[in-house]
Amino acid sequence: MNRAAVLTVALGLATLPAVIAAARPVTYNFPADTIPAAFAEPDTEIVVSNCSACHSLDYIATQPRHKGPQFWRDAVNKMVNVYKAPIDPADADAVSAALARKFG
Ligand code: HEC
Repeated sequence: MNRAAVLTVALGLATLPAVIAAARPVTYNFPADTIPAAFAEPDTEIVVSNCSACHSLDYIATQPRHKGPQFWRDAVNKMVNVYKAPIDPADADAVSAALARKFG
């Protein structure tokens, strides 16, 4: 290691205690959890309670429209079978039906 490198390392180490002393707990203000307007109705409550755990509800609200009930059934099945979403079969039926009513 040449002199410049040694000096750089030494300076770096010398400032370390100051960096550590300056470290303070940081608090963050997260935005409030919001439910997209599309899901703020009683019929889609079942979607909110079953589909919010892993990702934003926007994943659902931004899907193409008028794909038909089978599209939503397949989407819910994929969440359960591929991503292991812990959704009761009766709830999966209700979610699929609610999404088909809402988005076609
Ligand atoms: C166990 C976690 C989990 C739950 C619960 C969950 N999802 Fe997902 N979902 C995922 C993952 C993982 C992806 C893929 C994310 C990515 O590709 O970025 C995804 C993606 C999606 C997509 C985007 C299209 C696609 O197929 O990738 C839709 C639509 C969707 N989810 C709908 C739902 C619905 C409806 C529910 C409620 C029945 C639900 N999700 C619940 C994990 C979950």
